[in-house]
Amino acid sequence: MDKLERDAAAWNPAQYLKFGGERLRPGYELLARIDDDLPLGPAYDLGCGTGEHARAIATRWPDRGVTGLDHSADMLKKAAAAPKPTNLSWQQADVAGWSPPPTPPALIFSNATLHWLPDHGALFPRLMQMIAPGGTLAVQMPGNFRAPSHTLIRDLALTPKYRPKLGVLTEPGGSLRDDLVQTPDFYYGALAPLAAAGGIDLWQTTYMTALTGERPVLEWIKGSILRPALDRLDQSERTAFEDELAARLAGAYPRRADGITLFPFRRIFMVARRG
Ligand SMILES: C[S@@+](CC[C@H](N)C(=O)[O-])C[C@H]1O[C@@H](n2cnc3c(N)ncnc32)[C@H](O)[C@@H]1O
Repeated sequence: MDKLERDAAAWNPAQYLKFGGERLRPGYELLARIDDDLPLGPAYDLGCGTGEHARAIATRWPDRGVTGLDHSADMLKKAAAAPKPTNLSWQQADVAGWSPPPTPPALIFSNATLHWLPDHGALFPRLMQMIAPGGTLAVQMPGNFRAPSHTLIRDLALTPKYRPKLGVLTEPGGSLRDDLVQTPDFYYGALAPLAAAGGIDLWQTTYMTALTGERPVLEWIKGSILRPALDRLDQSERTAFEDELAARLAGAYPRRADGITLFPFRRIFMVARRG
């Protein structure tokens, strides 16, 4: 993973967890769709972040080793600060070059991470191939790169005022690059040859998150997609960029009379059992 990609997928744990409940919910919903009955073997949470789902996995399957893996030292530091089950450990590594130790995993779980990695046509079969027969690959990814919350940042970044500093982020590997997430049909096709008969559960959902506050969508994206752009600006540029973006976002996500801003967020889920 090069520097641009690393920056794109780097996180600020405090800002990310400002909306912790909403952000963690899809991972718990994914977890709820995994059968209890897994074959022998360890479990991995790829891109575990601050470790909530990895802790839940380790608690649900107390008799197997669980590893929460992330490339961010900050996220892992926050993960390690909370108490954890004894069968859970943390590992700093890049999912892109990762392969598990010799015992095949019974479960590979990944919530809101794999959308940062390229070439899903190779990545998803590669992960599926690692899994023990009868084991599970469970993945959730945002499917919202074409939503205004993303396209408006990109549009603003490409204006003459910001392009010299932010244009690079729209290139491959940058946080404002084109969407890497494919259609559900694509994932079905990538996983089916390696899955058990009838073993793919695939769905998508648009969460309608009710946000409050003056600049709610801006606050949300500051914990994720917007952060690498803000990091490249000095303080006065950052304030101007945020002001301008907030005005554009307010047009795309109007505040209701009761003060709530509804923020639609599409997510794609898959739980695939290895044949
Ligand atoms: C949106 S956060 C999700 C964290 C956690 N899974 C959750 O649901 O709260 C994405 C996480 O993926 C990690 N990440 C992104 N790309 C990665 C990569 N190539 N290898 C390892 N971790 C990665 C980031 O550091 C971050 O912690």
